[in-house]
Amino acid sequence: MKSLNEHYIIDNKYFTQFLLKSGEFITIYRVKDKHNVNYLLKLYDLEKLHKENFDEYGNIYEIEIVKNLSHPNIEVFVDSGNTIINDKNYLYLVLKYISGESLAEYLSRTKNIDLYDILSFTMQILEGLSYLHNLSRPILHNSINMDNIIIDESSKVPSIKIVNFHYARYSNFLGNGINLDDLNLLFVSNEGLNGKFSIQNDIYSVGAILYNLIYRIPPWFIDVSKLSSQEKIEAIIRERMKPLLLINDILCNNIHYKSILNIINKALNPNFDDSYKDVYNFIEDLKKEFNSISSYEFKGGVVYEDNRLIFDNLTNKEKGFSAIAGMKELKEILTTNVINLLKDPEGAKEYGLTIPNGMLLFGPPGCGKTYISEKLAEEVNFNYYFIKSSDLVSPYAFETQKKIGKLFDDAYKNKPSIICFDEFDSYAFRKDMSNNAIMTGVVNEILTQLNNCGKRGVFVIATTNNPELIEKSILRKGRMDLLIYVPPPDYEARKELFKLYLKDKPKDFNINYDELANLTDKYVASDIEFIAIDAAREAYKFKTNITQKILINIIGRTRSSLSDEDNKKYDFYKDFFNGSTINTNYRKPIGFRINKDD
Ligand SMILES: Nc1ncnc2c1ncn2[C@@H]1O[C@H](COP(=O)(O)OP(=O)(O)OP(=O)(O)O)[C@@H](O)[C@H]1O
Ligand SMILES: [Mg+2]
Repeated sequence: MKSLNEHYIIDNKYFTQFLLKSGEFITIYRVKDKHNVNYLLKLYDLEKLHKENFDEYGNIYEIEIVKNLSHPNIEVFVDSGNTIINDKNYLYLVLKYISGESLAEYLSRTKNIDLYDILSFTMQILEGLSYLHNLSRPILHNSINMDNIIIDESSKVPSIKIVNFHYARYSNFLGNGINLDDLNLLFVSNEGLNGKFSIQNDIYSVGAILYNLIYRIPPWFIDVSKLSSQEKIEAIIRERMKPLLLINDILCNNIHYKSILNIINKALNPNFDDSYKDVYNFIEDLKKEFNSISSYEFKGGVVYEDNRLIFDNLTNKEKGFSAIAGMKELKEILTTNVINLLKDPEGAKEYGLTIPNGMLLFGPPGCGKTYISEKLAEEVNFNYYFIKSSDLVSPYAFETQKKIGKLFDDAYKNKPSIICFDEFDSYAFRKDMSNNAIMTGVVNEILTQLNNCGKRGVFVIATTNNPELIEKSILRKGRMDLLIYVPPPDYEARKELFKLYLKDKPKDFNINYDELANLTDKYVASDIEFIAIDAAREAYKFKTNITQKILINIIGRTRSSLSDEDNKKYDFYKDFFNGSTINTNYRKPIGFRINKDD
Protein backbone atom coordinates (compact mmCIF):
# COMPACT_ATOMS: atom_id res chain seq x y z
CA MET A 1 0.00 0.00 0.00
CA LYS A 2 1.01 3.59 -0.36
CA SER A 3 2.45 4.69 2.92
CA LEU A 4 0.27 6.87 5.08
CA ASN A 5 0.98 10.52 5.59
CA GLU A 6 2.27 11.80 8.85
CA HIS A 7 -0.53 12.40 11.38
CA TYR A 8 -2.93 10.09 9.59
CA ILE A 9 -5.38 8.89 12.22
CA ILE A 10 -5.88 5.14 12.35
CA ASP A 11 -9.16 3.94 13.81
CA ASN A 12 -9.69 7.32 15.46
CA LYS A 13 -7.00 6.46 18.00
CA TYR A 14 -3.47 6.38 16.62
CA PHE A 15 -1.63 9.19 14.86
CA THR A 16 1.09 8.01 12.51
CA GLN A 17 4.51 9.56 13.08
CA PHE A 18 6.69 7.79 10.58
CA LEU A 19 7.02 4.61 8.58
CA LEU A 20 9.39 2.08 10.12
CA LYS A 21 9.17 -0.72 7.60
CA SER A 22 7.09 -1.62 4.65
CA GLY A 23 6.69 -5.18 3.46
CA GLU A 24 4.56 -7.05 1.01
CA PHE A 25 1.55 -7.26 3.28
CA ILE A 26 2.60 -5.58 6.50
CA THR A 27 3.56 -1.96 7.04
CA ILE A 28 4.91 -0.86 10.36
CA TYR A 29 4.57 2.65 11.76
CA ARG A 30 5.53 4.46 14.85
CA VAL A 31 2.36 6.05 16.11
CA LYS A 32 1.18 7.96 19.17
CA ASP A 33 -2.11 8.15 20.93
CA LYS A 34 -3.83 11.34 22.04
CA HIS A 35 -1.80 11.37 25.26
CA ASN A 36 1.36 11.47 23.16
CA VAL A 37 2.47 7.98 24.13
CA ASN A 38 4.47 6.19 21.44
CA TYR A 39 3.57 2.79 20.07
CA LEU A 40 4.49 0.50 17.26
CA LEU A 41 1.61 -0.28 14.92
CA LYS A 42 1.53 -3.11 12.38
CA LEU A 43 -0.96 -2.77 9.60
CA TYR A 44 -1.96 -5.99 7.76
CA ASP A 45 -3.25 -5.81 4.22
CA LEU A 46 -6.02 -8.44 4.30
CA GLU A 47 -6.12 -8.90 0.55
CA LYS A 48 -2.47 -9.75 0.34
CA LEU A 49 -2.05 -12.03 3.35
CA HIS A 50 -1.77 -15.75 2.57
CA LYS A 51 -4.13 -18.20 4.15
CA GLU A 52 -1.28 -19.69 6.17
CA ASN A 53 -1.18 -16.50 8.18
CA PHE A 54 -4.60 -17.21 9.63
CA ASP A 55 -5.52 -19.74 12.29
CA GLU A 56 -8.50 -22.09 12.14
CA TYR A 57 -10.84 -19.32 13.27
CA GLY A 58 -9.68 -16.92 10.60
CA ASN A 59 -7.61 -14.79 12.95
CA ILE A 60 -4.11 -13.64 12.14
CA TYR A 61 -1.69 -15.86 14.06
CA GLU A 62 0.58 -13.05 15.07
CA ILE A 63 -2.18 -10.99 16.65
CA GLU A 64 -3.80 -13.95 18.37
CA ILE A 65 -0.50 -15.17 19.77
CA VAL A 66 0.88 -11.86 20.98
CA LYS A 67 -2.42 -10.91 22.59
CA ASN A 68 -2.05 -13.57 25.24
CA LEU A 69 1.62 -13.23 26.05
CA SER A 70 3.05 -11.67 29.15
CA HIS A 71 6.71 -12.01 29.97
CA PRO A 72 9.48 -9.49 30.75
CA ASN A 73 11.53 -10.67 27.75
CA ILE A 74 8.75 -10.48 25.19
CA GLU A 75 7.24 -7.50 23.39
CA VAL A 76 4.06 -6.17 24.92
CA PHE A 77 0.64 -6.24 23.31
CA VAL A 78 -1.46 -3.07 23.62
CA ASP A 79 -4.37 -3.21 21.23
CA SER A 80 -5.67 -4.64 17.99
CA GLY A 81 -8.61 -4.04 15.70
CA ASN A 82 -9.70 -3.46 12.17
CA THR A 83 -9.96 -0.30 10.20
CA ILE A 84 -10.80 0.91 6.72
CA ILE A 85 -8.30 2.98 4.82
CA ASN A 86 -9.14 4.20 1.33
CA ASP A 87 -12.03 1.74 1.12
CA LYS A 88 -9.79 -1.20 1.95
CA ASN A 89 -9.98 -3.35 5.01
CA TYR A 90 -6.98 -3.65 7.29
CA LEU A 91 -6.23 -5.31 10.61
CA TYR A 92 -3.84 -3.66 12.98
CA LEU A 93 -1.77 -4.68 15.98
CA VAL A 94 -0.43 -2.13 18.46
CA LEU A 95 2.61 -2.94 20.58
CA LYS A 96 4.49 -1.03 23.23
CA TYR A 97 7.24 0.98 21.58
CA ILE A 98 10.66 -0.29 22.63
CA SER A 99 13.33 2.35 22.58
CA GLY A 100 16.56 0.57 21.97
CA GLU A 101 18.37 -1.25 19.22
CA SER A 102 18.43 -4.72 17.74
CA LEU A 103 21.29 -7.09 18.51
CA ALA A 104 22.44 -6.66 14.90
CA GLU A 105 22.64 -2.90 15.32
CA TYR A 106 24.28 -3.24 18.70
CA LEU A 107 26.96 -5.56 17.33
CA SER A 108 27.83 -3.33 14.43
CA ARG A 109 28.16 -0.36 16.73
CA THR A 110 30.05 -1.97 19.60
CA LYS A 111 33.64 -3.01 19.22
CA ASN A 112 34.19 -4.76 22.50
CA ILE A 113 31.42 -6.85 23.88
CA ASP A 114 31.71 -8.09 27.37
CA LEU A 115 31.28 -11.82 27.89
CA TYR A 116 29.00 -10.94 30.76
CA ASP A 117 26.63 -9.09 28.42
CA ILE A 118 26.75 -11.87 25.85
CA LEU A 119 25.71 -14.47 28.39
CA SER A 120 23.15 -12.17 29.92
CA PHE A 121 21.51 -11.43 26.56
CA THR A 122 21.50 -15.11 25.62
CA MET A 123 20.02 -16.09 28.92
CA GLN A 124 17.19 -13.56 28.63
CA ILE A 125 16.29 -14.80 25.15
CA LEU A 126 16.16 -18.30 26.58
CA GLU A 127 13.97 -17.17 29.47
CA GLY A 128 11.53 -15.70 26.98
CA LEU A 129 11.56 -18.88 24.91
CA SER A 130 11.19 -21.06 27.97
CA TYR A 131 7.98 -19.17 28.75
CA LEU A 132 6.71 -19.65 25.19
CA HIS A 133 7.61 -23.33 25.00
CA ASN A 134 5.94 -24.10 28.31
CA LEU A 135 2.59 -22.40 27.84
CA SER A 136 -0.40 -24.70 28.06
CA ARG A 137 -0.56 -24.32 24.32
CA PRO A 138 3.18 -24.10 23.59
CA ILE A 139 4.40 -21.56 21.05
CA LEU A 140 7.39 -21.66 18.74
CA HIS A 141 8.87 -18.35 17.69
CA ASN A 142 10.53 -19.71 14.52
CA SER A 143 12.48 -16.61 13.59
CA ILE A 144 14.87 -15.82 16.40
CA ASN A 145 17.75 -13.91 14.86
CA MET A 146 19.88 -10.82 15.44
CA ASP A 147 17.17 -8.49 14.11
CA ASN A 148 14.30 -9.85 16.15
CA ILE A 149 15.97 -9.38 19.51
CA ILE A 150 15.84 -5.81 20.82
CA ILE A 151 17.84 -4.40 23.68
CA ASP A 152 15.34 -2.31 25.58
CA GLU A 153 17.20 0.67 26.96
CA SER A 154 14.28 2.42 28.58
CA SER A 155 15.09 1.24 32.08
CA LYS A 156 18.34 1.50 34.01
CA VAL A 157 19.33 -2.07 33.37
CA PRO A 158 18.92 -2.85 29.67
CA SER A 159 16.74 -5.89 29.10
CA ILE A 160 16.13 -8.11 26.13
CA LYS A 161 12.84 -8.26 24.29
CA ILE A 162 11.91 -10.89 21.72
CA VAL A 163 9.91 -9.24 18.94
CA ASN A 164 8.26 -10.08 15.62
CA PHE A 165 5.90 -13.00 16.13
CA HIS A 166 4.90 -13.07 12.52
CA TYR A 167 6.21 -16.60 12.05
CA ALA A 168 5.29 -17.81 15.52
CA ARG A 169 2.93 -20.81 15.60
CA TYR A 170 1.50 -23.26 18.09
CA SER A 171 3.90 -26.13 18.55
CA ASN A 172 1.66 -28.70 16.88
CA PHE A 173 1.58 -26.86 13.57
CA LEU A 174 3.00 -28.73 10.64
CA GLY A 175 5.46 -26.23 9.35
CA ASN A 176 3.33 -25.08 6.49
CA GLY A 177 2.87 -21.41 6.02
CA ILE A 178 6.42 -20.48 6.77
CA ASN A 179 7.99 -19.11 3.67
CA LEU A 180 11.69 -19.79 4.05
CA ASP A 181 12.45 -16.89 1.75
CA ASP A 182 11.34 -14.53 4.48
CA LEU A 183 13.63 -15.93 7.17
CA ASN A 184 17.27 -15.31 7.87
CA LEU A 185 18.33 -18.84 6.96
CA LEU A 186 21.68 -18.65 8.71
CA PHE A 187 19.73 -18.79 11.97
CA VAL A 188 17.45 -21.65 10.95
CA SER A 189 18.36 -25.22 11.92
CA ASN A 190 18.78 -27.92 9.31
CA GLU A 191 15.39 -29.39 10.12
CA GLY A 192 13.88 -25.94 9.77
CA LEU A 193 15.51 -25.68 6.36
CA ASN A 194 13.68 -28.89 5.56
CA GLY A 195 10.39 -27.33 6.62
CA LYS A 196 10.19 -28.91 10.08
CA PHE A 197 9.90 -26.35 12.84
CA SER A 198 10.20 -27.43 16.45
CA ILE A 199 11.66 -26.43 19.79
CA GLN A 200 15.05 -27.53 18.47
CA ASN A 201 14.91 -24.88 15.80
CA ASP A 202 14.42 -22.10 18.35
CA ILE A 203 17.28 -23.55 20.38
CA TYR A 204 19.49 -23.66 17.33
CA SER A 205 18.71 -20.00 16.64
CA VAL A 206 19.78 -18.98 20.13
CA GLY A 207 23.00 -20.99 19.74
CA ALA A 208 23.58 -19.12 16.50
CA ILE A 209 23.06 -15.80 18.26
CA LEU A 210 25.49 -16.76 21.01
CA TYR A 211 28.03 -17.71 18.35
CA ASN A 212 27.33 -14.53 16.39
CA LEU A 213 27.85 -12.33 19.43
CA ILE A 214 31.24 -13.89 20.09
CA TYR A 215 32.49 -14.35 16.54
CA ARG A 216 30.63 -11.49 14.88
CA ILE A 217 29.29 -13.75 12.14
CA PRO A 218 26.63 -16.46 12.24
CA PRO A 219 27.89 -20.05 12.47
CA TRP A 220 28.87 -21.67 9.15
CA PHE A 221 28.61 -18.30 7.54
CA ILE A 222 28.54 -18.13 3.77
CA ASP A 223 27.44 -15.34 1.53
CA VAL A 224 24.16 -16.53 0.01
CA SER A 225 22.86 -13.16 -1.05
CA LYS A 226 23.20 -13.90 -4.73
CA LEU A 227 21.65 -17.39 -4.75
CA SER A 228 18.10 -18.45 -5.52
CA SER A 229 16.06 -19.76 -2.59
CA GLN A 230 16.66 -23.45 -3.29
CA GLU A 231 20.35 -22.87 -3.94
CA LYS A 232 20.60 -20.98 -0.67
CA ILE A 233 19.26 -23.88 1.35
CA GLU A 234 21.50 -26.39 -0.37
CA ALA A 235 24.57 -24.21 0.05
CA ILE A 236 23.91 -23.69 3.74
CA ILE A 237 23.30 -27.36 4.43
CA ARG A 238 26.49 -28.23 2.55
CA GLU A 239 28.46 -25.67 4.54
CA ARG A 240 27.18 -27.19 7.76
CA MET A 241 28.79 -30.53 6.93
CA LYS A 242 32.09 -28.83 7.63
CA PRO A 243 33.36 -28.55 11.18
CA LEU A 244 32.26 -25.40 12.94
CA LEU A 245 34.85 -22.64 12.89
CA LEU A 246 35.93 -22.20 16.49
CA ILE A 247 38.89 -19.99 17.03
CA ASN A 248 40.09 -20.59 20.52
CA ASP A 249 42.20 -17.48 20.28
CA ILE A 250 39.20 -15.30 20.85
CA LEU A 251 38.49 -16.89 24.13
CA CYS A 252 41.79 -18.29 25.16
CA ASN A 253 42.52 -15.73 27.81
CA ASN A 254 39.36 -16.67 29.55
CA ILE A 255 39.06 -19.77 31.64
CA HIS A 256 35.47 -20.27 30.59
CA TYR A 257 36.14 -20.70 26.96
CA LYS A 258 36.02 -24.47 26.83
CA SER A 259 32.67 -24.69 28.54
CA ILE A 260 31.21 -21.92 26.42
CA LEU A 261 32.40 -23.59 23.25
CA ASN A 262 30.81 -26.81 24.49
CA ILE A 263 27.53 -25.03 25.04
CA ILE A 264 27.62 -23.53 21.55
CA ASN A 265 28.47 -26.89 20.02
CA LYS A 266 25.63 -28.54 21.81
CA ALA A 267 23.07 -25.88 20.89
CA LEU A 268 24.07 -26.06 17.23
CA ASN A 269 24.42 -29.81 17.05
CA PRO A 270 22.38 -31.22 14.16
CA ASN A 271 22.13 -34.56 15.98
CA PHE A 272 19.06 -34.60 18.13
CA ASP A 273 20.69 -36.88 20.68
CA ASP A 274 23.66 -34.59 21.17
CA SER A 275 21.80 -31.32 21.32
CA TYR A 276 19.68 -29.63 23.95
CA LYS A 277 16.28 -31.27 24.20
CA ASP A 278 14.78 -28.20 25.77
CA VAL A 279 15.60 -24.67 26.72
CA TYR A 280 15.86 -25.58 30.38
CA ASN A 281 19.15 -27.48 30.08
CA PHE A 282 20.60 -24.77 27.90
CA ILE A 283 19.79 -22.21 30.61
CA GLU A 284 21.22 -24.41 33.35
CA ASP A 285 24.52 -24.77 31.50
CA LEU A 286 24.78 -21.04 30.91
CA LYS A 287 23.94 -20.28 34.52
CA LYS A 288 26.95 -22.26 35.65
CA GLU A 289 29.21 -20.02 33.58
CA PHE A 290 27.32 -16.92 34.42
CA ASN A 291 27.70 -17.32 38.14
CA SER A 292 31.44 -17.59 37.98
CA ILE A 293 32.55 -15.21 35.24
CA SER A 294 34.04 -11.87 35.84
CA SER A 295 33.92 -9.12 33.28
CA TYR A 296 35.82 -10.08 30.16
CA GLU A 297 35.86 -8.21 26.92
CA PHE A 298 36.02 -10.00 23.63
CA LYS A 299 38.53 -8.38 21.49
CA GLY A 300 37.90 -8.81 17.85
CA GLY A 301 36.10 -11.40 15.87
CA VAL A 302 35.75 -12.90 12.47
CA VAL A 303 34.92 -10.59 9.63
CA TYR A 304 33.98 -11.30 6.06
CA GLU A 305 36.21 -9.50 3.64
CA ASP A 306 37.11 -10.07 0.01
CA ASN A 307 35.04 -13.23 -0.09
CA ARG A 308 36.77 -14.87 2.81
CA LEU A 309 36.62 -15.03 6.54
CA ILE A 310 39.45 -13.47 8.41
CA PHE A 311 40.12 -12.98 12.05
CA ASP A 312 40.32 -9.33 12.88
CA ASN A 313 41.62 -8.09 16.17
CA LEU A 314 39.45 -5.00 15.86
CA THR A 315 40.28 -3.57 19.21
CA ASN A 316 43.21 -5.76 20.03
CA LYS A 317 45.22 -3.18 18.23
CA GLU A 318 46.12 -0.68 20.85
CA LYS A 319 45.41 2.82 19.89
CA GLY A 320 47.72 5.76 19.49
CA PHE A 321 51.18 6.04 20.94
CA SER A 322 50.58 3.33 23.50
CA ALA A 323 50.83 0.83 20.65
CA ILE A 324 54.37 1.92 19.84
CA ALA A 325 57.23 0.10 21.47
CA GLY A 326 60.26 2.26 22.24
CA MET A 327 60.64 5.49 20.26
CA LYS A 328 60.30 7.38 23.49
CA GLU A 329 62.10 10.51 22.39
CA LEU A 330 60.27 10.71 19.10
CA LYS A 331 56.96 10.46 20.92
CA GLU A 332 58.07 13.20 23.26
CA ILE A 333 59.11 15.50 20.46
CA LEU A 334 55.83 14.99 18.69
CA THR A 335 53.89 15.58 21.89
CA THR A 336 55.65 18.74 23.05
CA ASN A 337 56.47 20.33 19.70
CA VAL A 338 53.40 19.43 17.75
CA ILE A 339 50.44 17.86 19.49
CA ASN A 340 50.29 20.11 22.54
CA LEU A 341 50.70 23.26 20.47
CA LEU A 342 48.04 22.23 17.98
CA LYS A 343 45.68 21.43 20.82
CA ASP A 344 46.20 24.75 22.54
CA PRO A 345 46.64 27.45 19.89
CA GLU A 346 45.80 30.28 22.34
CA GLY A 347 48.39 29.23 24.86
CA ALA A 348 50.95 28.66 22.13
CA LYS A 349 50.32 32.14 20.78
CA GLU A 350 50.79 33.71 24.17
CA TYR A 351 54.27 32.22 24.34
CA GLY A 352 55.01 33.04 20.74
CA LEU A 353 55.34 29.39 19.81
CA THR A 354 54.46 27.82 16.49
CA ILE A 355 54.66 24.23 15.42
CA PRO A 356 57.39 23.14 13.05
CA ASN A 357 56.30 23.12 9.41
CA GLY A 358 57.35 19.60 8.83
CA MET A 359 59.25 16.57 9.99
CA LEU A 360 61.01 13.97 7.90
CA LEU A 361 61.43 10.48 9.31
CA PHE A 362 64.12 8.55 7.52
CA GLY A 363 65.81 5.23 8.04
CA PRO A 364 65.84 1.58 7.05
CA PRO A 365 62.65 -0.27 6.11
CA GLY A 366 60.47 -1.91 8.70
CA CYS A 367 61.53 0.27 11.62
CA GLY A 368 58.21 1.97 12.17
CA LYS A 369 58.24 5.23 10.21
CA THR A 370 54.89 4.65 8.58
CA TYR A 371 53.64 3.00 11.74
CA ILE A 372 54.29 5.95 14.01
CA SER A 373 52.79 8.33 11.47
CA GLU A 374 49.59 6.31 11.49
CA LYS A 375 49.55 6.07 15.26
CA LEU A 376 49.95 9.84 15.41
CA ALA A 377 46.56 10.11 13.72
CA GLU A 378 44.97 7.95 16.40
CA GLU A 379 46.73 9.85 19.15
CA VAL A 380 45.33 13.23 18.14
CA ASN A 381 41.83 13.93 17.04
CA PHE A 382 42.77 16.41 14.36
CA ASN A 383 42.08 16.21 10.71
CA TYR A 384 44.56 13.80 9.35
CA TYR A 385 45.49 13.26 5.73
CA PHE A 386 47.53 10.18 4.97
CA ILE A 387 48.98 10.27 1.48
CA LYS A 388 50.51 7.17 -0.08
CA SER A 389 52.64 7.71 -3.12
CA SER A 390 50.05 5.89 -5.21
CA ASP A 391 47.53 8.58 -4.27
CA LEU A 392 49.63 11.24 -5.91
CA VAL A 393 51.72 9.76 -8.64
CA SER A 394 49.32 9.76 -11.53
CA PRO A 395 50.11 9.39 -15.20
CA TYR A 396 49.06 13.00 -15.37
CA ALA A 397 51.55 14.66 -13.12
CA PHE A 398 49.92 17.97 -13.78
CA GLU A 399 46.97 16.63 -11.86
CA THR A 400 49.31 15.74 -9.04
CA GLN A 401 50.38 19.33 -8.66
CA LYS A 402 46.75 20.39 -8.45
CA LYS A 403 45.99 17.59 -6.01
CA ILE A 404 48.69 18.79 -3.66
CA GLY A 405 47.37 22.34 -3.80
CA LYS A 406 43.88 21.13 -3.06
CA LEU A 407 45.10 18.93 -0.23
CA PHE A 408 46.72 21.87 1.55
CA ASP A 409 43.71 24.11 0.93
CA ASP A 410 41.57 21.51 2.55
CA ALA A 411 43.95 21.13 5.47
CA TYR A 412 44.03 24.90 6.11
CA LYS A 413 40.27 25.08 5.98
CA ASN A 414 39.98 22.33 8.58
CA LYS A 415 42.91 23.27 10.76
CA PRO A 416 44.49 22.07 12.90
CA SER A 417 45.52 19.34 10.51
CA ILE A 418 48.31 16.89 9.98
CA ILE A 419 49.37 15.76 6.53
CA CYS A 420 51.47 12.66 6.23
CA PHE A 421 53.36 11.99 3.01
CA ASP A 422 54.41 8.35 3.07
CA GLU A 423 57.37 7.39 0.87
CA PHE A 424 58.04 11.02 0.20
CA ASP A 425 60.97 10.39 -2.12
CA SER A 426 58.69 9.00 -4.79
CA TYR A 427 57.37 12.44 -5.68
CA ALA A 428 59.47 15.03 -3.85
CA PHE A 429 62.66 14.00 -5.60
CA ARG A 430 65.60 16.17 -6.42
CA LYS A 431 65.02 18.62 -9.23
CA ASP A 432 68.51 18.06 -10.55
CA MET A 433 67.75 14.37 -11.00
CA SER A 434 64.51 14.90 -12.84
CA ASN A 435 64.39 16.09 -16.38
CA ASN A 436 60.65 16.11 -16.29
CA ALA A 437 59.28 19.64 -16.21
CA ILE A 438 55.93 18.52 -14.89
CA MET A 439 57.39 16.64 -11.96
CA THR A 440 59.50 19.68 -11.24
CA GLY A 441 56.23 21.57 -11.01
CA VAL A 442 55.09 19.10 -8.39
CA VAL A 443 58.22 19.66 -6.36
CA ASN A 444 57.78 23.42 -6.62
CA GLU A 445 54.23 23.08 -5.40
CA ILE A 446 55.39 21.15 -2.33
CA LEU A 447 58.06 23.78 -1.71
CA THR A 448 55.52 26.59 -1.80
CA GLN A 449 53.07 24.80 0.40
CA LEU A 450 55.68 23.94 2.99
CA ASN A 451 56.51 27.59 3.60
CA ASN A 452 55.05 28.50 6.95
CA CYS A 453 52.29 25.92 6.92
CA GLY A 454 52.97 25.40 10.63
CA LYS A 455 51.92 28.96 11.44
CA ARG A 456 48.68 28.28 9.63
CA GLY A 457 47.91 25.20 11.70
CA VAL A 458 49.09 22.46 9.36
CA PHE A 459 51.85 20.04 10.27
CA VAL A 460 53.52 17.89 7.64
CA ILE A 461 55.16 14.58 8.43
CA ALA A 462 56.98 12.66 5.71
CA THR A 463 58.71 9.29 5.64
CA THR A 464 61.40 7.86 3.42
CA ASN A 465 64.08 5.18 3.10
CA ASN A 466 66.02 7.37 0.72
CA PRO A 467 66.55 10.85 2.08
CA GLU A 468 69.27 11.46 -0.47
CA LEU A 469 66.71 11.41 -3.27
CA ILE A 470 64.63 14.22 -1.82
CA GLU A 471 64.97 17.73 -3.17
CA LYS A 472 67.43 19.53 -0.91
CA SER A 473 65.52 22.77 -0.64
CA ILE A 474 62.54 20.90 0.78
CA LEU A 475 64.72 19.70 3.61
CA ARG A 476 65.90 23.18 4.46
CA LYS A 477 64.98 24.77 7.73
CA GLY A 478 61.70 26.62 7.52
CA ARG A 479 60.30 23.74 5.53
CA MET A 480 61.17 20.35 7.00
CA ASP A 481 62.34 21.65 10.35
CA LEU A 482 62.98 18.29 11.91
CA LEU A 483 65.00 15.52 10.28
CA ILE A 484 64.80 12.42 12.36
CA TYR A 485 66.59 9.17 11.91
CA VAL A 486 64.53 6.14 12.87
CA PRO A 487 67.07 3.39 13.44
CA PRO A 488 66.52 -0.32 13.91
CA PRO A 489 65.35 -0.98 17.47
CA ASP A 490 68.00 -1.20 20.18
CA TYR A 491 68.16 -3.83 22.89
CA GLU A 492 65.52 -2.33 25.17
CA ALA A 493 63.24 -1.54 22.26
CA ARG A 494 63.48 -5.11 20.96
CA LYS A 495 62.52 -6.37 24.39
CA GLU A 496 59.50 -4.10 24.33
CA LEU A 497 58.58 -5.20 20.83
CA PHE A 498 58.59 -8.87 21.87
CA LYS A 499 56.45 -8.04 24.87
CA LEU A 500 54.05 -6.04 22.73
CA TYR A 501 53.65 -8.68 20.07
CA LEU A 502 53.32 -11.59 22.48
CA LYS A 503 51.02 -9.72 24.82
CA ASP A 504 47.70 -11.20 23.87
CA LYS A 505 48.93 -14.60 22.81
CA PRO A 506 48.89 -17.77 24.92
CA LYS A 507 52.44 -18.18 26.18
CA ASP A 508 54.51 -19.64 28.97
CA PHE A 509 54.96 -17.45 32.00
CA ASN A 510 58.72 -17.65 31.98
CA ILE A 511 59.54 -16.11 28.60
CA ASN A 512 63.01 -14.60 28.84
CA TYR A 513 62.76 -11.35 26.93
CA ASP A 514 66.41 -10.45 27.54
CA GLU A 515 67.51 -13.54 25.73
CA LEU A 516 65.19 -12.78 22.82
CA ALA A 517 66.52 -9.22 22.56
CA ASN A 518 70.06 -10.53 22.70
CA LEU A 519 69.48 -12.89 19.84
CA THR A 520 67.94 -10.27 17.56
CA ASP A 521 70.61 -7.60 17.22
CA LYS A 522 70.06 -5.72 13.90
CA TYR A 523 66.57 -7.14 13.46
CA VAL A 524 63.94 -4.53 12.60
CA ALA A 525 60.49 -4.13 14.17
CA SER A 526 58.67 -5.90 11.37
CA ASP A 527 61.06 -8.87 11.71
CA ILE A 528 60.14 -9.17 15.36
CA GLU A 529 56.45 -8.94 14.58
CA PHE A 530 56.91 -11.73 12.04
CA ILE A 531 58.74 -13.90 14.58
CA ALA A 532 55.94 -13.48 17.10
CA ILE A 533 53.27 -14.40 14.55
CA ASP A 534 55.26 -17.40 13.37
CA ALA A 535 55.65 -18.58 16.95
CA ALA A 536 51.91 -18.29 17.48
CA ARG A 537 51.30 -20.33 14.35
CA GLU A 538 53.67 -23.03 15.53
CA ALA A 539 52.07 -23.17 18.99
CA TYR A 540 48.59 -23.22 17.51
CA LYS A 541 49.54 -26.20 15.38
CA PHE A 542 50.26 -28.24 18.49
CA LYS A 543 47.68 -26.44 20.64
CA THR A 544 50.34 -25.47 23.19
CA ASN A 545 51.54 -22.23 24.66
CA ILE A 546 54.24 -20.25 22.90
CA THR A 547 57.45 -21.33 24.60
CA GLN A 548 60.93 -19.86 24.80
CA LYS A 549 62.12 -22.83 22.78
CA ILE A 550 59.69 -22.17 19.95
CA LEU A 551 60.74 -18.53 19.85
CA ILE A 552 64.44 -19.30 19.80
CA ASN A 553 63.93 -21.87 17.06
CA ILE A 554 62.10 -19.36 14.94
CA ILE A 555 64.67 -16.63 15.51
CA GLY A 556 67.26 -19.16 14.38
CA ARG A 557 65.58 -19.65 11.05
CA THR A 558 64.54 -16.03 10.48
CA ARG A 559 67.12 -13.64 9.17
CA SER A 560 67.14 -9.93 9.77
CA SER A 561 65.71 -8.15 6.77
CA LEU A 562 68.59 -5.68 6.84
CA SER A 563 71.76 -6.67 4.99
CA ASP A 564 75.21 -5.53 6.10
CA GLU A 565 75.15 -3.19 3.17
CA ASP A 566 71.90 -1.62 4.34
CA ASN A 567 73.40 -1.10 7.75
CA LYS A 568 76.38 0.70 6.28
CA LYS A 569 74.21 2.84 4.07
CA TYR A 570 72.00 4.00 6.91
CA ASP A 571 74.92 4.64 9.23
CA PHE A 572 76.14 7.01 6.56
CA TYR A 573 72.79 8.79 6.10
CA LYS A 574 72.34 9.12 9.79
CA ASP A 575 75.55 11.10 10.10
CA PHE A 576 75.12 12.99 6.90
CA PHE A 577 71.63 14.27 7.55
CA ASN A 578 71.87 14.83 11.22
CA GLY A 579 75.37 16.07 11.42
CA SER A 580 76.39 18.81 9.18
CA THR A 581 74.70 20.97 6.68
CA ILE A 582 71.01 20.93 6.96
CA ASN A 583 69.64 20.88 10.38
CA THR A 584 71.43 21.03 13.64
CA ASN A 585 68.53 21.24 16.01
CA TYR A 586 68.18 17.56 16.57
CA ARG A 587 71.47 15.91 16.12
CA LYS A 588 71.03 12.51 17.54
CA PRO A 589 68.94 9.81 16.09
CA ILE A 590 65.95 9.59 18.29
CA GLY A 591 63.68 6.94 16.91
CA PHE A 592 64.51 4.13 19.23
CA ARG A 593 66.72 4.52 22.23
CA ILE A 594 70.32 4.25 21.18
CA ASN A 595 72.74 1.64 22.49
CA LYS A 596 75.42 3.01 24.74
CA ASP A 597 78.11 2.07 22.26
CA ASP A 598 76.26 3.76 19.43
N1 LIG B 1 57.88 0.93 17.50
C1 LIG B 1 57.10 -0.02 17.03
N2 LIG B 1 56.21 -0.60 17.88
C2 LIG B 1 55.40 -1.57 17.43
N3 LIG B 1 55.39 -2.04 16.20
C3 LIG B 1 56.24 -1.52 15.31
C4 LIG B 1 57.13 -0.48 15.68
N4 LIG B 1 57.84 -0.15 14.61
C5 LIG B 1 57.44 -0.94 13.62
N5 LIG B 1 56.48 -1.77 14.03
C6 LIG B 1 55.83 -2.81 13.23
O1 LIG B 1 56.61 -3.04 12.08
C7 LIG B 1 55.81 -2.88 10.91
C8 LIG B 1 56.64 -2.17 9.88
O2 LIG B 1 56.80 -0.82 10.23
P1 LIG B 1 56.61 0.35 9.18
O3 LIG B 1 55.84 -0.12 8.02
O4 LIG B 1 56.11 1.51 9.91
O5 LIG B 1 58.12 0.55 8.74
P2 LIG B 1 58.70 1.68 7.79
O6 LIG B 1 59.87 2.17 8.53
O7 LIG B 1 57.72 2.66 7.40
O8 LIG B 1 59.17 0.80 6.56
P3 LIG B 1 59.41 1.30 5.06
O9 LIG B 1 60.55 2.24 5.12
O10 LIG B 1 59.73 0.04 4.35
O11 LIG B 1 58.13 1.93 4.61
C9 LIG B 1 54.60 -2.08 11.36
O12 LIG B 1 53.46 -2.45 10.66
C10 LIG B 1 54.45 -2.40 12.80
O13 LIG B 1 53.62 -3.50 12.94
MG1 LIG C 1 56.78 2.93 5.40
